[in-house]
Formats: sequence, C-alpha cells, structure tokens
Amino acid sequence: MINIVSIDKKRYTSMAILPILKFPDPRLHTIAQPVTQFDEHLQRIVADMFETMYAARGVGLAATQVDIHQRIVVIDTSEERNAPTVLINPEIIAQSAEKKDWEEGCLSVPEVYEVVARPERVRVRAQDTSGTFFEMDCDELLAVCVQHEIDHLNGKVFVQYLSNLKLNRLKNKIKKQQRESVSS
Ligand code: NI
Repeated sequence: MINIVSIDKKRYTSMAILPILKFPDPRLHTIAQPVTQFDEHLQRIVADMFETMYAARGVGLAATQVDIHQRIVVIDTSEERNAPTVLINPEIIAQSAEKKDWEEGCLSVPEVYEVVARPERVRVRAQDTSGTFFEMDCDELLAVCVQHEIDHLNGKVFVQYLSNLKLNRLKNKIKKQQRESVSS
C-alpha cells in the first residue's frame, strides 16, 4: 500500500528554479548532513526543490543534486503531478528480499536510461517539514524513486550500479558531449 504524505505546494511563494549538478560533477558524491532545523529556511529549500523538479519534469530530486548537502528529498510519482511528497532525513527501515529491474533515469545524468535491480518494496521512515516522523510503504515507481533519491544523499548516482565497462563508456560519452557543447 502506498501512503503518500502530501503538502500543499500553493502555500509556497516566490519559488526559484535551482541549477542541477550534472554527473560526473564531484559534488554529487558529497554525503548529505541530517536536517536539524525545521524552519523557514528549510521550507524555502523544499519549495525551490519542487519548483526545480517540476520544471525539469522529474519524479524525484535530492538536495545533493542542487548542491545543498542536507538530507532532503522531494518526490512526485503521480501521473497528474499533484502528489508532492517531502522526505526529510529519510531512512529505509525494511525492504523486500525480492528485487525488481527498473529502467532508471536521473536529472543529473540527462538522456541516460539504464536498468538497475533494487528491492521491489521498501518501508521508509522520514520527517516532514515540521519535523514530525512518519512511515511510508512504497512499491512500483515510488519504491525505485525513494531508493534512487536516498542514494543521492549518500553521494551515489544510479550509473554507479553499472559495470565498470559500461560506466567508463558512459563517462567517455559524456566527456565527448561536453567537448562538443563547448566547441559549438
Ligand atoms: Ni537522480
């Protein structure tokens, strides 16, 4: 069962779209710090992260990706884009033994989609923006997304699950793209 804890995104004003770090930026491998202050500043970061995620058509965004190294994740896996979910200091407290293959993408690795096997179902414990703890059972895309975003907070990008051969090929491809975009 999916229990989505929603916030009212209309509550937030003057949001900003933040630049998203792109792999292989070394800052993506920073380990994020726990959030300890549940204040206006946190609300502001969350609002900006939602704005950034929706603008980029993502289903999830970790603060790490916008160069904010605090344990904050925003997610919306709904088709209608109307179920914003915030996870502060999220932790996976249970996971299924069964794994499932899912083709993943990431706003920090544009145009790359690779299959990753992860536990099919997870239970997450997190806090909301006021610091209240809650638990959420996740399956399907939500389970994939939660695990992918928590990896970001631990400095891990999904392409690091690939074989060295595939990862090196990908890095070379990205380097080539970057050279081309600089010279054009
Ligand atoms: Ni990602």
